Amino acid sequence: MTSIIHSKSWDLLKKHYEQISPQHIRDFFNHDARRSDKFSLKFDDLLFDFSKNKITEETLALLYGLAKQSELKSWISKLFNGEKINFTEKRAALHVALRNRSNAPILFDGKDVMPSVNRVLNKIHFFSDSIRSGELKGFTGKKFTAVVNIGIGGSDLGPAMVCHALKSYGEKSIKPIFVSNVDGYDIAQALDQCDPETTLFIVASKTFTTQETMTNAFTARKWLTDSLGIDAVKNHFVAISTNEAAVTAFGISPENTFEFWDWVGGRYSLWSSIGLSIAIYIGMDQFENLLDGAHEIDNHFRDAPFEENIPVTLAMIGVWHINFFGYNTLAVLPYDQGLSLLPSYLQQADMESNGKFIGRDGEKVCLHTGPIVWGDAGTNGQHAFYQLIHQGTDIIPTDFIMPANTQYSVGSEKNQHHKILFSNYVAQSRALMFGKTKEKVRAELVRSQNDVDGLEDIIPHKSFEGDRPSNSFLFKKLTPKSLGRLLAIYEHKIFVQGIIWNINSFDQWGVEYGKQLASLILPELNNQNETNGFDSSTNNLINYFKKST
Ligand code: F6P
Repeated sequence: MTSIIHSKSWDLLKKHYEQISPQHIRDFFNHDARRSDKFSLKFDDLLFDFSKNKITEETLALLYGLAKQSELKSWISKLFNGEKINFTEKRAALHVALRNRSNAPILFDGKDVMPSVNRVLNKIHFFSDSIRSGELKGFTGKKFTAVVNIGIGGSDLGPAMVCHALKSYGEKSIKPIFVSNVDGYDIAQALDQCDPETTLFIVASKTFTTQETMTNAFTARKWLTDSLGIDAVKNHFVAISTNEAAVTAFGISPENTFEFWDWVGGRYSLWSSIGLSIAIYIGMDQFENLLDGAHEIDNHFRDAPFEENIPVTLAMIGVWHINFFGYNTLAVLPYDQGLSLLPSYLQQADMESNGKFIGRDGEKVCLHTGPIVWGDAGTNGQHAFYQLIHQGTDIIPTDFIMPANTQYSVGSEKNQHHKILFSNYVAQSRALMFGKTKEKVRAELVRSQNDVDGLEDIIPHKSFEGDRPSNSFLFKKLTPKSLGRLLAIYEHKIFVQGIIWNINSFDQWGVEYGKQLASLILPELNNQNETNGFDSSTNNLINYFKKST
C-alpha cells in the first residue's frame, strides 16, 4: 500500500501549510470576531474549542479529506465490529463492548460478547456492593477499610487515575491504594498504611506473569500470611486476569477471579474488571455512569460526520501539528487537581499505542507517528515548565481541560479558588496564542518604570512570540460520566491517528525487549563473580552495583 504521504490529500495539505504557516494565529482572531464559534464543537455540556490552532475552514476540509482518504469510516466499523485489527496479535480491540450500555450484540469470532461482559459486570456489582456494605469481611470478621490494587501499566494507571479524579464520590470508609513499581518503596509504603485484618488485595494483571506485579503480589501475600496464616488468602485476595491457570497457581480461586478477555488491550481496560477498585470505591452505580459517558462518545464517534466529530477533529489537528508543523509533543494540562494523573494515563494510552515505527505493511514508516505526551495539573505547571512553553525554542501544542464547577467548595468567598483557577486556565491559552509584541512590552515598561535606562535591553526578554496552538475543553463538572466521555474522546483520537499513520495502535512489542534483557541480567546479580558478558558499560554498572550492595 502506498504511504499516505504520496496521496493527493497529503499534497494539498503540504501546499496549504506553505500558505498558512507564515500567518499568526492572532491575525485569524483579529479578522474574525466569531472565530471561536466557528471552530468549536459541543457534546452536551462539553465544549471543545479548537479555535486557537493555526487552522481555517480550508485546513479542516483538507484534514477531513485526509481522514476520508485513509478510509477512516471503514476502520471505525472494523473497530466496532470486532475485527482483528490488532493483526500482529490476531486480536480485536473491543473496549467499546465493555461499556456497550445499549447491550446490542457485538460479535467476536461470530459470538456475541455481551453476555460475558454483563456476567462479569454483575459479578463486579455483587462483589463491590458486598465489600462496601461489610457483608464480605476479612478472615477475622472485620470490614475492609483498604483496597490495594497491585498492577502496572493499564492494570494500574486507569483505576488509579479514576479513583483520584473521583475522590469526592469515594466511600469514605475505604481507602484505595495503588502499588505498581517493583521498587520496594511502593509495596512498603502501601503495607505501612494497612492492617492485615482489614485489607483486600486485588492482583490485577491481564497476563498474570508481569514481573513487577507478581513480585509485589507474593510480597503482599507473605505479609498477610505472616500475620493471619495461609487460610486468610481466600478472604483477602482477588485476581483480575485472563490467565485462570496462573491465578489458581497463585492461590486465588475462580470464585475470587474476575475475568477479562484478550480482545481488551491493557491500556484500554479500566472499563473491564480492571476497574474493580473503582467500583468498590465509588460504587457500581457511579462506575456505570463512567461507562455511560464513554458509551455516549462511542456512539458519537461512530455516527457523527467528521466535521461534527470531536475525536476525529482532535486527532486531525494533532496530525496537522505533528506531520506538517513538526510539533512532536503534546502537553496535557488539566486545570483540576483531581485530574493530575490524567497526563500519566494518557502517556500509556497514546505513547504505547502510537509509539511505532513500522507500518501495517511491515515497512518502516516515512512520517512521524505518536507524539511525546506529558503534562501536569494547572496551575502547578505554570510554576514548573510554562516558561519553556511560552518562550522556548520548541512549540508545544497544549490541551487545556477544566470543569467549570469545582468538587470542593472551600475558602472565604464562594468558589474564589475555582475562579482563580479558571482565570489562569483561560489566560494561559490566550497568552500562548496572542503573545506580547515588543511594542506592547515597551509601552508597559514606559508606563510602569520611572527609570527607563536599559529599557531596550530588557524588552526582548519580556516579549512573547505567541502563535502557539492549543485546544480547550470545558465542561460543567468532573463526574463519572464527564470523565468517561473525556477518556473515550482521547482513546478514539489515538485510534484515528494510528489509522492515518497506518500503524497498529493495539500491540506493544516495544516493551518486550527491555524485559527480556532484564531477565538475563537478574541472575548476574545473584552471584559475586565479576560480570563480563555484556558491553563494557553494562558490565561496569552491574559490577559497581554488586560492589555497592
Ligand atoms: O507495558 C506493557 C504492558 O503489557 C501493558 O500493555 C500492560 O497494561 C502492562 O504491561 C501490564 O500488563 P498485565 O496487565 O498483563 O500485567
